Amino acid sequence: AKHLLGIEHLNPSDISTLLDLADQYADRPTDIAHRNVLAGMTQINMFFENSTRTLASFELAGKRLGADVMNMAMQASSIKKGETLIDTALTLNAMHPDLLVVRHPHSGAVDLLSQKVNAAVLNAGDGKHEHPTQALLDALTIRRRKGRLHRLSVAICGDIAHSRVARSNIILMGKMENRVRLIGPPTLMPSQIGELGVEVFDSMEEGLKDVDVVMMLRLQRERMDGGFIPSEREYFHRYGLDATKLSHAKDDAIVMHPGPMNRGVEIDGTIADDINRSVIQTQVEMGVAVRMAAMDLLARNLRESRVETGVMV
Ligand code: CP
Repeated sequence: AKHLLGIEHLNPSDISTLLDLADQYADRPTDIAHRNVLAGMTQINMFFENSTRTLASFELAGKRLGADVMNMAMQASSIKKGETLIDTALTLNAMHPDLLVVRHPHSGAVDLLSQKVNAAVLNAGDGKHEHPTQALLDALTIRRRKGRLHRLSVAICGDIAHSRVARSNIILMGKMENRVRLIGPPTLMPSQIGELGVEVFDSMEEGLKDVDVVMMLRLQRERMDGGFIPSEREYFHRYGLDATKLSHAKDDAIVMHPGPMNRGVEIDGTIADDINRSVIQTQVEMGVAVRMAAMDLLARNLRESRVETGVMV
């Protein structure tokens, strides 16, 4: 494929290939031999929404692979003067980047942009739609910790309706033949739930019973449009992950959170910090490896297509 826009476009073999390569990068993340992989290539990061993990890891991944990396400060760009997303993309495209990493608050915006540029585009999160590299780094974390990525029972808990992380993970876990349970208030469940092939629970105690993986999500207040916003105290009482609720999962169940996390709202701080159960820091570590693998594979495709079309590489 030319771009990485969503898990929905990948098949199980694509996912395994990418995770196998990411595994190698995870074992030797800072090996200077990697610097040849994107040498001579230019990577531009365009983040129209805030980010800590995704932006930092894409930048580090590009640098560790030897790319010239530019972070566009979108808050300081001419978007503020009324320039559109597409005109901004065309402007940057004229400077011949090879890789564009894009985060945008609107679902579908990254796909639209990918149709207008020559560079390979990686979706770093678009609205409520997809966050493919997050689902891939979650999958790598699970595979390394559990020794497999199939026939697991995975609970995704909290604000599912507004979460691109949940959507990408539901698709990925389904493709790899795992059982997915969604747990949360009915008001925070997506509308077309029947199409997702998941089980739905309103009770953490019931939904977490015997699961292998517990994924917690942040309440995405910025996407709630003034609709239902639960009080933090009430939410933590019913849906926040604490030791009592976690005791319903398997004894060796792992706890995940994509970040940013709100301690005392969706997760108790002591659970987040419990190194025997929480793999939150491993998720961040795997994020760099997965992004190195994704850019490596897209760069290979880019080089091949340029050779085929006679464009100098
Ligand atoms: N998980 C994630 O996307 O975090 P950031 O918003 O900090 O990039």
